[in-house]
Amino acid sequence: MLEYSESKIKDLFVEFLKTFKDNKNELKYRIQISQLPAKNGKSVVVDFPDLLVYNTDLATELVRNPALYLKSFDSAALETLNTENPIYADKISRELKVRIRQLTDRTSLRDVTKSQLNMLIMVAGMVTRTSELKPLAVNAAFVCPNGHVTFVEQSGLVLKRPAKCDDERCQETRLFELDESKTEFIDFQVIKIQEMPEELPPGQLPQSFDVHLIGDIVNSARPGDRIALTGIVRAEPESPTSSIRLRLFTNRIEANYIEQLGKRPGEMEITREEEEQIKAIASQPGAFERIVASIAPSIVGHELHKEAVLLLMVGSPQKKLPDGSTLRGDISILLVGDPGTAKSELLKYVARVAPRGLFTSGRGSTAAGLTAAVVKEKNGMLMLEAGATVLADLGVACIDEFDKMRDEDRSALHEVMEQQTASVAKGGIVATLNARTSILAAANPEMGKYDPYKNILENVALPVPLLTRFDLIFIIRDEPDRAHDETVARHILEMRAKSDFPTAPPIDFELLKKYIAYAKKIDPELTEEARARLSDFYIKLRSQASPDQISVTPRWLEGLIRLSIARARVLLHQRVTEEDALHAINLMERMLQTVAVDVRTKKVDVGVLYDRPLSERGLRETALEVFKRLSGEAREPVEDKKFYEEMEKDGKFTHDQVVKVFQDMYRSGMIYEVRPHFYRRI
Ligand SMILES: Nc1ncnc2c1ncn2[C@@H]1O[C@H](COP(=O)(O)OP(=O)(O)OP(=O)(O)O)[C@@H](O)[C@H]1O
Ligand SMILES: [Mg+2]
Ligand SMILES: [Zn+2]
Repeated sequence: MLEYSESKIKDLFVEFLKTFKDNKNELKYRIQISQLPAKNGKSVVVDFPDLLVYNTDLATELVRNPALYLKSFDSAALETLNTENPIYADKISRELKVRIRQLTDRTSLRDVTKSQLNMLIMVAGMVTRTSELKPLAVNAAFVCPNGHVTFVEQSGLVLKRPAKCDDERCQETRLFELDESKTEFIDFQVIKIQEMPEELPPGQLPQSFDVHLIGDIVNSARPGDRIALTGIVRAEPESPTSSIRLRLFTNRIEANYIEQLGKRPGEMEITREEEEQIKAIASQPGAFERIVASIAPSIVGHELHKEAVLLLMVGSPQKKLPDGSTLRGDISILLVGDPGTAKSELLKYVARVAPRGLFTSGRGSTAAGLTAAVVKEKNGMLMLEAGATVLADLGVACIDEFDKMRDEDRSALHEVMEQQTASVAKGGIVATLNARTSILAAANPEMGKYDPYKNILENVALPVPLLTRFDLIFIIRDEPDRAHDETVARHILEMRAKSDFPTAPPIDFELLKKYIAYAKKIDPELTEEARARLSDFYIKLRSQASPDQISVTPRWLEGLIRLSIARARVLLHQRVTEEDALHAINLMERMLQTVAVDVRTKKVDVGVLYDRPLSERGLRETALEVFKRLSGEAREPVEDKKFYEEMEKDGKFTHDQVVKVFQDMYRSGMIYEVRPHFYRRI
């Protein structure tokens, strides 16, 4: 190992900053430093590979002993700045920092071990919490009882006091008071990073670290961001404030540089060879069906739902309007189904294959856990914490057991599902975080099994405003069907026996994952023909709904557009064709066939979605008319038997229907009983 003296280290760094030339033959760092004053910059960002090329020993030592080497690097930068602009150098002398970007090796958060203690490392993770900013003393001023001021340079978290007074004639060693007005402070922030879900080994608790940010890198990361950072690993006593020191220490990282990873999807590495494979898949005939067939090969059937979740995973791009408002691009789907119909299985699969997929169960999830929260740390610091939908920003949040959540928790999703943001306002922190997240939710019918004689509202205990935010709602019913049951049984048994899929999916899991990430980068344009198709269909639907109902809203048209774009993306097309539009329409129609069928007439009726079927609406209206006619102008009491007879006269309604509607009228207070069997209109 090579040992440089401290002044030698600084000289080497000065030389590097002043003379390093990049491949354009430019004095890269000299230029960067000379531009600092104009930008009010306080950081010099050095690419580690440059240093490695320039002086391998110096670079290696920097990684091994960053405390000493970074300090020298800072002074070297200050010295270089001083030759350029002495006034500015003096002004920021204590704040100027050299920040190191792109270390050769990236350590996984899971592998940060004691052997890396006090070394410079690079890790990547997801920001789950950020604290408020606090002033941190860098040069603390202490006053002795005689009024002398002694400055102590600070490092670490515990305030260092002077050993003795600076004044030579003064003997004071203990009674010092901190003078805040003379003390210099710097911005300080704590953030928490966690292993990214895609890097997490199955069944393990994600590893997380506290990261300290000092100086101008504060506020450079927000909850939900994915970042790569270089920093120094430090061990810190578990409870630095208590007088009893534990033997237990926790690791934390002192950040030196933070880099945002993947503002866009597709941060996944796709080699040129894989790109060729992806393009080849897309150009084959029947490509779409092959891709759908590759989704969740452990689940038999469910082609419709697989197709829908494929479109959800690929999604459509968010669009910005000139006034800064945005058009949502994410597709949300709700699966309502009988127990044991592979809903959870499908959700878990999606969370694994979708870029930035995340699985969470609604049972026990709180509003804070789903969106964002302000929490108080042990040390009293307020932290902004990201919930599931923020962590899955630009990805998919799969929420199982959606019906098992409390209403107030679930309602926090309204904002996410329409505005694509999550807001918190608490303890003086007001923040809005990005949550551009597709939601795939699964719920059971309220009574355990889906009752086809009731509409969806009566079947699931979910509020209408939330239901209308889903682009697609599917009902999965578990009806005994011999052929299907046999296929499922064979499939499950064979998977058990072989620990493999009975037939291999056309596209394997790893490639499909990349395929989806790749497709997400495409921004197809709607063609005139596609637009016409969508608009025709929407207008047709609108005309079928009666005006007093909430059913077909403009959200439907937006949903259709998103689905059409997603389908074009799956095929890697730059244009959304008529065929894509027809596909989206087909999905919507098939959803209506499951959700919006009037069981009495067996016809699709959009009114059924959130309201009563047309035939029943007819029933109610007729019932009112009949009652009015029987009671006449004078509002005479009407006998129930008489009402039934009148209603059943022409055979349009059954006795059961008539009794039910009569009970409904009574329960809703439209009529009241004046004496046994006689009712009067309000
Ligand atoms: N069509 C199918 N193909 C293969 N496996 C299936 C199918 N349907 C159900 N299963 C299997 O049945 C089991 C139960 O499925 P899962 O837990 O996903 O049901 P669920 O719909 O989430 O039920 P619940 O509503 O009770 O939560 C799983 O092991 C799943 O693999
Ligand atoms: Mg389940
Ligand atoms: Zn003194």
